[in-house]
Amino acid sequence: MKKLMAANWKMYKTRDEAEQTARGLVGLVAGRIPADREVLVIPPFTALSVVARELAAIPGFSLGAQNFYPAAQGAFTGEIAPDMLLDLGCAYALAGHSERRHVLGESDAFVGRKVAFGLAAGLRMILCVGEKIEERQAGLVREVVKRQLDAGLSDVVPDVHPETLVVAYEPVWAIGTGLTAGPADVAEAHGFVREMLRARYGEKGNEVRILYGGSVKPENSGEIIGIDNVDGVLVGGASLRAESFAAIALA
Ligand code: 13P
Repeated sequence: MKKLMAANWKMYKTRDEAEQTARGLVGLVAGRIPADREVLVIPPFTALSVVARELAAIPGFSLGAQNFYPAAQGAFTGEIAPDMLLDLGCAYALAGHSERRHVLGESDAFVGRKVAFGLAAGLRMILCVGEKIEERQAGLVREVVKRQLDAGLSDVVPDVHPETLVVAYEPVWAIGTGLTAGPADVAEAHGFVREMLRARYGEKGNEVRILYGGSVKPENSGEIIGIDNVDGVLVGGASLRAESFAAIALA
């Protein structure tokens, strides 16, 4: 199973900025990605084609999208369909990111529709889950993660290929705050996600990658990636500069 080192650029970067960052990243990382790692760049929609051009045919790199609407096509003004992303060279897409759940109001059920639809359309899906600070303080981490996983995976076919499904544990209180979950908290949450994946998919559940996200930076990525059941990272702020994301990707 390859570790997945993912850069989520969120709503940052014009095309020129994205092109420069992607080019810088390729310069720093190409030819140095270990065989057991994959580097994923997830730019905003408007920069997908320029980043695709920079990453094209470079071994070890993949391209992903931050969102899509779960329909093949249709009268959905402002939305993007999975086929449009595949057409641009995307292999992956996110669903259930906390900013979409809590800023854009996406429900557990809608996230579940996206995961199943994206997989069926041929995208590899990264289902994001994670608790808010008040939920952690109330001792509800497992309940929240279980609810989001159950809903997020409810329509996925049981014989899903485990390489095409990824779960990202991103505690909401650690996103963009400089706070990271401690190693014991990460190990506990990832162990719980693994248990749930095994309960759902049997042995195949061991092959679904589980990423950690939330204030990952060059200084902590080596430790995080070494924790049991951490199969990669999903990086926001520290992925915006080529140098810092290159350091994380190669940590
Ligand atoms: P930060 O790395 O900025 O905390 O963001 C994490 C995240 O939301 C990645 O999807």
